[in-house]
Amino acid sequence: MGTRFLPATKALPKEMLPIVDRPTIQLVVEEAAEAGIEEILIITGRNKQAIEDHFDRNPELEDLLRTKGKEEDLEEILKISELANIFYMRQKEPLGLGHAVFCARSFIGSEPFAVLLGDDIVHASVPCIKQLIDVYAEKGQTVLGTQRVGWENVHKYGIVDTDDPDSPVVRVKQLTEKPSREEAASDLAVLGRYIIDPAIFSILEQTAPGRGGEIQLTDGLNTLAARHPVWAYSFTGRRYDVGDRLGFLEATLEYALRREELAPALKKFLSSLQRR
Ligand code: G1P
Repeated sequence: MGTRFLPATKALPKEMLPIVDRPTIQLVVEEAAEAGIEEILIITGRNKQAIEDHFDRNPELEDLLRTKGKEEDLEEILKISELANIFYMRQKEPLGLGHAVFCARSFIGSEPFAVLLGDDIVHASVPCIKQLIDVYAEKGQTVLGTQRVGWENVHKYGIVDTDDPDSPVVRVKQLTEKPSREEAASDLAVLGRYIIDPAIFSILEQTAPGRGGEIQLTDGLNTLAARHPVWAYSFTGRRYDVGDRLGFLEATLEYALRREELAPALKKFLSSLQRR
């Protein structure tokens, strides 16, 4: 519900907050499309209509841009509606991430599938979810995208218990959702990217509400890990939590500094701020 970003998210879905000039959800969908994913189901909820409009065609705007000769802008907005086959499903109540994933069961059927959380973006030369797909191709079992986050941050994430948190691909012994520093087995956190075996659906159906009274994906994955191998893969790239104010600002700066037309003036401005 975007409560960490109020009041901006009172009427605007948090996934529509722009990083420079692209809504966060567009960056996430682009990552999936670049990884070769062609069919995407976006689980939405009340007040998220703007997301559907964003990926739809907008004939009036297209006509206007055509008339004004704004070919580049036109191309840019046409590309958005062609990124992938996008489907939507509304989660009728915010019962938790595990429940949101469970909503996708009939769309997915019996294939392994990728999950990308709408407020985690990853800047990487190989799209993060593609890196996980490659590990899945080798292991044939559930893969979680992880990175070490520092002990002071473990309470914000799903945390992996494993023998070797420094190894790039390591088997998960156990998962805990948002443990305290004392409870945490490591500082290896699950960061919003997953390739999951469809066996998760029958598990999620039986998963009771956990931390915060929500049906947690982490709890479902923990049960899965007790039955089949689940792998933690430390992906390459920098991940931003754009649902968090500081994470949002960091992502905005990183993405802006990578834009040729913006970087020189922005750098100048930033150093002038530093001198103040
Ligand atoms: C969710 C998951 C958590 C994961 C995190 C990554 O938490 O429940 O396991 O580490 O995303 O961003 P949320 O941030 O939605 O509370």
